[in-house]
Formats: sequence, C-alpha cells, structure tokens
Amino acid sequence: MSLSNIEEIAIFIVADGKGILAADESNPTCGKRFDSIGVDPTEENRRDYRELLFRSKGMKGNIGGVILFDETIRQKAKDGTLLRDIISDQGALPGIKVDKGLQPIEDCPNETVTVGLDGLDERLKEYSSMGAKFTKWRAVINIGDGIPTDKCIDANMQALADYAKCAQDNGMVPIVEPEVLMDGEHNIEQCFDATERSLKSLFSHLEKASVNIKGTLLKPNMVTSGKDATDQASVEEVAQKTLDCLIANVPAELPGITFLSGGQSEILATAHLDAMNKIGGFSWKLSFSYGRALQAAALKAWEGKSENEFISQDELSHRAEMNKLASLGQWEQELEDR
Ligand code: 13P
Repeated sequence: MSLSNIEEIAIFIVADGKGILAADESNPTCGKRFDSIGVDPTEENRRDYRELLFRSKGMKGNIGGVILFDETIRQKAKDGTLLRDIISDQGALPGIKVDKGLQPIEDCPNETVTVGLDGLDERLKEYSSMGAKFTKWRAVINIGDGIPTDKCIDANMQALADYAKCAQDNGMVPIVEPEVLMDGEHNIEQCFDATERSLKSLFSHLEKASVNIKGTLLKPNMVTSGKDATDQASVEEVAQKTLDCLIANVPAELPGITFLSGGQSEILATAHLDAMNKIGGFSWKLSFSYGRALQAAALKAWEGKSENEFISQDELSHRAEMNKLASLGQWEQELEDR
C-alpha cells in the first residue's frame, strides 16, 4: 500500500464500504470483557484473543483499519510475527489510541475531560515509526440534569483539536471521537441537542487549530434514546435524526464518518448504519468503527479456548461483512440467518 499523505490514508480506510475494527480496549476494559466469559486478564490471553481476531478471514476487504492499544502495537503473535504486521497483511492499516483517559472537571459534577496532551508529540513519533497510520482520541459527554455544560464541551473539543493537529503534524490521520454516552433515561431530542452542541464546538475548534478536515475522520455516536428510556426511538427515527444532526454540523469535505457502537446490540448497530446509507444525501462515507458491535459474538464464542478459535473468527468475519454491506446500504435482516 503506498499511501503518501493523510488525505489518502483517510480515504483508504473507508473505501468501498470498509470500516474500522476498534480493538483498543485498555487493559482494565479488556479485563471486564474477559470477566464476562471467565477468562483471566493476562497479557498472553489478550494477545491470543487479538491475534485470532486479526487473523480472521473476514478482515480482508471489510476492515480498512484496526485501532490498537499501546500493548498490542508492540506485541508479537505466537509464531513471532508482529500483530501489526498481521493487520497489514490483511490489507488494513494499524492505528493507535493515544488519549490517556478521563479526569473529573473542577466544579462540573459527573463530567470529565480527556487527558493525554503531555508528551503526545513524542509518543506519536514512536507510534509512527512503528507503522501506525492513524490515531484515536475519545472525549466523553454525559447527558443528565443540567449537563453537558458548555465548559465540559469546550474543554473536550479544544483537547480533541490540539490532539488532531499534533497527529497530522506527525503524518497520521486523527480520528476525533466526541462520544455522547447512551447511559441514562433521556429522550432522543436530548441526545440530538448534546450531539449537535458537541459537533458545532468540535468543528469550530478544529478550524481554529488549522486541522486539515480532508485528512481527518469523525467517530461520533448515533442520535438515539438513552439506554434506560422507556420509549425507544425506531431504527428509522435514529437514522433520520442522526443524519439531520450530521448534515447540519459536519463539513462536506470530511472524507468519512465512522460510528462507534456505544452499547447498541450488534444487529441494531448494523441496522442503523444501513438505514442511513439507504436514505443517502450526504457526501462523506458513512461507515463503522465498532468495538463491542463487532466483537461481542466472537468474544462469547471464544471462551478463552483455542479449539473455539475458528468459530470465534467466523463470528467476527460475519459481523465485518454485515457492516460493510450496511456501509453500502445493502444489508438485509435475512442475511443474519446463517
Ligand atoms: P464501541 O463500539 O464498543 O462503543 O467502541 C468503540 C470505541 O472505540 C470507543 O472508543
């Protein structure tokens, strides 16, 4: 793959319906996932699990990039091959999560700001030398009584813009992820409002920081009802409201929008993406950067046992293929019957 600049890298990742496998769970988050299947959170188990994911047949043609955690970008497979080289052999680009997590904001209860700008330039230089072509930074926005505050949105979007500029200065595509959480009983309008405020602030900060939008990918939440809301919006409503929000607030020159799944079920995450692509009317590629919605069935099938590797890979391959079809607006519910 000869990709000479960030604009080409961004286009490559989302070309032809391809999306991103988010496998950048921090060690504690990965530990929680392993806990659900009774597997010890050891470095070797994390390696074995991710190696099986990256060697899945369905990576090829469906996955354009894989987001890694620091441990994984340095790790070798059982046969000594670097995991990042397995990803490249599958035709996907290795990327890296570079933020350092969440910190409380003074005077803003239940709100956080994502940190990690200290030493970022040096870390990016090292990741670039290891072959990382893109990076990710996740900001978290909570909906609740009186929140999100403008202070929280502004601090997070400013940090995202500073990070994005630094990534581009090091020749890597920044994925900017302003995640409005699904947690809570809020309705879809409240999610629309928080998402819109976040996106407006984000693109204003990106412009001020002279970030090249054509060399950037956006990883947003979809506009949905809160997880605990009694009234759950339909697939059609989620698709239409998400598109309305994005069309009003995201520059047309952005090459791609790769959604996070945020706790949606695997099928719903696919159905929502497909519904948006069937509606159409936008210029960006509309694709996926799912963690749980790509991995849940694969993780469950694996159970930490090598004899289950094949069925686990089959689950990941299936979801990757389904989401590629959704990115092209060609998914049908019947395709899930195997
Ligand atoms: P989910 O798709 O599980 O939300 O994970 C995506 C991600 O990378 C969150 O930062």
